[in-house]
Amino acid sequence: MEYLENDPIRLSADRTAVEVIDQRLLPGELRWVSLRSAGEVAEAIRTLAVRGAPLIGICAAYGICIAAAKALREDREHFFERFKTDSLVISGARPTAVDPYHAAQRLRRRLERQRSAGHGPEEITEGLFEEAVSLHEEEIRTCLAISELGLTLIKDGSTVITHCNAGAMATGRYGTGLGPLLLGAEKGYTFHAYVDETRPLLQGARITAFELMRAGVDTTLMCDDMAAYVMAQGKTDACMVGCDRVAVNGDTANKIGTCGLAVLAKHYGVPFYVFCPVSTIDLCCKTGADIQIEMRDGREITGLYFEKPVAPEGVRCLDPSFDVTPAELITAIVTERGIFYPPYDFSAFGKG
Ligand code: MRU
Repeated sequence: MEYLENDPIRLSADRTAVEVIDQRLLPGELRWVSLRSAGEVAEAIRTLAVRGAPLIGICAAYGICIAAAKALREDREHFFERFKTDSLVISGARPTAVDPYHAAQRLRRRLERQRSAGHGPEEITEGLFEEAVSLHEEEIRTCLAISELGLTLIKDGSTVITHCNAGAMATGRYGTGLGPLLLGAEKGYTFHAYVDETRPLLQGARITAFELMRAGVDTTLMCDDMAAYVMAQGKTDACMVGCDRVAVNGDTANKIGTCGLAVLAKHYGVPFYVFCPVSTIDLCCKTGADIQIEMRDGREITGLYFEKPVAPEGVRCLDPSFDVTPAELITAIVTERGIFYPPYDFSAFGKG
C-alpha cells in the first residue's frame, strides 16, 4: 500500500518493524520509532506512543505479523505457540478499545484458514501480512466514509467542541471524530473548533490542536472545565468525539471526560455526535457496564507535563483513562455504514 506524508504508521520496507510516530513527543517533535517485537509493540501501545482505538488496532495487526516473521526466522519450530502468545501480549496491552482484539482475531482466523488448507509457517506469514495491509487499507476507507457522512451533520462555518484526539493520528487517515473537520478543511469549509485539552495526557492540546492547525482549521484550545462556559454562550453547534467501544444499547466508552461533556451538551441542547467504525461496536457488551475501563498510574495527573509535581507528595489519585457515555446522551453514532439514532439497533452487524 502507499503511505502518505501525514500517516502515523507504516510497515518498514523489509517488514521487520512497525514504524510509528512517537505521539508522546508531539507536538514538539515528530519522531518515528521502529517496533521490532511483540514486547516493543505492546509497550508502545501501553505507554501511548501509539494511541487511538483504530490506530492501535492497525498497530496490533502489523505487530502480530512482524512477530510472526521473527518467530519464523528465529524459532520456526514453535511458530504456532509463539503466534498465540505474541497475539495475546499485543492485544492485551490496553483493555478498553476493542480494535486490537478484533485485529488479533482477524489474523488468527486467517492463520487457521491457511493452516487447515495445509499451508506452512512461510505461506501463513505472507498471508498474515496481506491481511494486516487489508485491515489498514479498510480503516483508511472507513475513516473517509465516516468523515463524508459526518460532514452532512455540520454546516460550513460551524463551531464545534472536540475531546481527546480522534484525528488522523488516532486512525489510518482523516480520523473519526475529527474526520469531518479535516476533510471539510480540505474541501474549503471553514470551521471553528474549541479543543478540550484533555487531562491528564493532553491529547487535545498536543495532538488535536496540532492536527487542526496543520489543516488550517480555526482552533481555540481550552481546559476541559471550560466547555460549559462556551456552551452557555450559545457558541456551539455540535460536540464531536471518537470512541473506543460501543455496547449493544449504544453506551459508548471514550476518553475520560467525554461523559461530562455529553451531560453539558444535553443541558445546553447541543447535539452530541460519536464517530466510530462499525468494528468498534462490540456485540458481546450489552451495556456500558460490560466495558472494562483502563486505570492508569496517578502520577500522570500529578507529575507528567509539569516541571514539578503539582500535588502534595503521596496524595492518592484516581486515573481512569476512559468513561462511558450513556446512550441517552448521544444524539447519533456515525459509522461508515450509516448514521444511527436512538434507540440503537446494531443487530444487522452480527456477532464478532
Ligand atoms: O488514550 P487514547 O489517547 O488512546 O484515547 C483515545 C480516545 O479516547 C479516542 O477518542 C478514541 O480512541 C477514538 S480514536 C479515533
